[in-house]
Amino acid sequence: MSVVDDEILIQVEDLRKIYEMGDTEVRALDGVSFDIPRGAFIAVMGPSGSGKTTLLDILGCLSHPTSGEYWLAGRRVGGLRDGQLAELRNHEIGFVFQNFNLLPRDTALGNVELPLLYDAVPRRERVARAKAALEAVGLGDRAHHRPNELSGGQRQRVAIARALVNDPSILFADEPTGNLDTASGESILRLITELHARGNTIVLVTHEREVAEHAERIMSFRDGKLVNDEWRKKDGKVWRSQ
Ligand SMILES: Nc1ncnc2c1ncn2[C@@H]1O[C@H](COP(=O)(O)OP(=O)(O)OP(=O)(O)O)[C@@H](O)[C@H]1O
Ligand SMILES: [Mg+2]
Repeated sequence: MSVVDDEILIQVEDLRKIYEMGDTEVRALDGVSFDIPRGAFIAVMGPSGSGKTTLLDILGCLSHPTSGEYWLAGRRVGGLRDGQLAELRNHEIGFVFQNFNLLPRDTALGNVELPLLYDAVPRRERVARAKAALEAVGLGDRAHHRPNELSGGQRQRVAIARALVNDPSILFADEPTGNLDTASGESILRLITELHARGNTIVLVTHEREVAEHAERIMSFRDGKLVNDEWRKKDGKVWRSQ
């Protein structure tokens, strides 16, 4: 590994997210610390309720931890103003939500154009880039369908096109293949693997071991804690485990 490969992109320290529910508290994240080097491909695994989405939302700057620190590219996220956070999200981060989060009244094209609209990209370029992103996920012929006129897998692909349209340096994807048939799942994974090969950092949540095996590192969570953290060689053998 070169020095550049070793650059730390994400660093979290003693991250906690606690929800107060009446008399009880839910420790969705319970003291998590780790680093992610720039350009890494990480899979996040763990049973339902173990804190995967909670973690991804914090890493994607969509929510704040109850306590603990998060540094993204050397910047302390907790210390950024809303405008700085929005800019970071718009330029650096692509996010695929577990439940897609598509706007129901907008077409596939309209949904994919959205991040570019926030970024004041001129209409002609916006449409061209959104079309290219839809084509990249194999949906060039569904640009004018609304979400309820698409299958679950197709909606998932629109969500991925929207996450990629800004050419983000980091992609956070929460179960991007969870609702897909095998062929669509494989094509999404190919896309993500290509993105990684181009130097992007990927953090992918998945229930499926086979999907996780595509990553260089598998981080496993249970009850809000990081319980296993293994880096893998290309042949699938573990070479470093924490
Ligand atoms: N807004 C909330 N208020 C209260 N508790 C919450 C809230 N959001 C999540 N939780 C709880 O926090 C825990 C972690 O939830 P999270 O969504 O991160 O799990 P997950 O690992 O993504 O699960 P899944 O695999 O089912 O998507 C769960 O026990 C959940 O019930
Ligand atoms: Mg989840």
